[in-house]
Amino acid sequence: MRSEPLYYTKKGKAYCGDSLELLSELPDNSVDLVMTSPPFALRRQKTYGNVVETEYVEWIKPFGKAVFRVLKETGSLVLDLGGAYKSGIPSRSLYNFRVLLMFCDEIGFHLSEDFYWFNPAKLPSPIEWVNKRKIRAKDSVNTVWWFSKTAFPKADVRKVLVPYSDRMKKLIEDPDSFYKPKKRPSGHDISAGFGKNNGGAIPANLLTIPNTDSNSSYLRLCKELGLQRHPARFPTELPAFFIKMLTDEKDIILDIFGGSNTTGFTAEALNRKWLTFELDREYLSASIIRFLDGYSVEEIREILCKLKSNQSNYQLEKIYCTLEPAKATKQRRQYIFQPSLFPSEDDCIEKKNRKNILENDSPASIPPSPIVNRIA
Ligand SMILES: C[S@@+](CC[C@H](N)C(=O)[O-])C[C@H]1O[C@@H](n2cnc3c(N)ncnc32)[C@H](O)[C@@H]1O
Repeated sequence: MRSEPLYYTKKGKAYCGDSLELLSELPDNSVDLVMTSPPFALRRQKTYGNVVETEYVEWIKPFGKAVFRVLKETGSLVLDLGGAYKSGIPSRSLYNFRVLLMFCDEIGFHLSEDFYWFNPAKLPSPIEWVNKRKIRAKDSVNTVWWFSKTAFPKADVRKVLVPYSDRMKKLIEDPDSFYKPKKRPSGHDISAGFGKNNGGAIPANLLTIPNTDSNSSYLRLCKELGLQRHPARFPTELPAFFIKMLTDEKDIILDIFGGSNTTGFTAEALNRKWLTFELDREYLSASIIRFLDGYSVEEIREILCKLKSNQSNYQLEKIYCTLEPAKATKQRRQYIFQPSLFPSEDDCIEKKNRKNILENDSPASIPPSPIVNRIA
């Protein structure tokens, strides 16, 4: 690509800019999976630039066309879209279904499968219809459209098997006492192979993933550093499911609405190559902390200072990247004086002075730094 990344690891690069422009720098047929969650068509404007539902389809069309061009023939696009209501009335917007139809009818995508992400932890909304008037149920399911360029994208559901139910486990232990192989009235031919242990069950297209994330190192570090956390992150489990099912190690994953770079982080942990595009420099800069678990707060502040002064191209050599819940690192120093994302130049100088003081101050309490390259 012509543009320089804001930061990069051995496997991926995070670019700040309009993804339409950045997409134009990518060659045709070069990406294995685009996993993304655009700003939704919400009635209330959020800080990250939502588009109103009536203009949404036209807004997203050029992104869809550009993604179609850069995807390999075996490639997929997974688009997470939250539901929305029309303005002022308790009627649902059809924008996510219109996007689906337009992507297939006009751009030429195949709908490989429609997925539904159920987030049981979602707060009730919209307040007017759900909490106040109590005339609608809470909206806790996002539509997740799995598009592909051809009818047979790369996919292997065996990579995302889920644990067997207790009943199925008993059946596998003793198939004879549970069923007799025969053709059911429904037409299903239940053969003897039904009781075979395949290491897990085929997952459903309803993904139940609570978006709680309260223990993640990203949130913890945002708090410790006084950074504003991205308000519309998806949980790592969502991209992890599709990355595992639709790609192999070393394949290229792209997120064109990167936000806090959940997709890049997940791809890195799963040993894939990744690219992230994000318009907002503050969000993208803050996303670097996903890769800095185990660094001290002082070291992270120094890196954020560098991102500010060097503009771009920061190389992350030693990173800690795992999808396992991060172990609490209670030992960190919490000398956080200013709440803004980027400390001023004076703050950077002051921070260096403070670091000198810290280094002469009970060194046993300063955590070991940086951590080895640990990939899940
Ligand atoms: C719903 S958020 C994505 C959050 C992300 N999935 C995560 O887990 O952090 C959508 C993001 O798209 C970004 N965005 C909006 N328009 C964009 C554009 N034209 N190019 C690049 N990013 C854009 C917004 O700044 C916002 O951070």
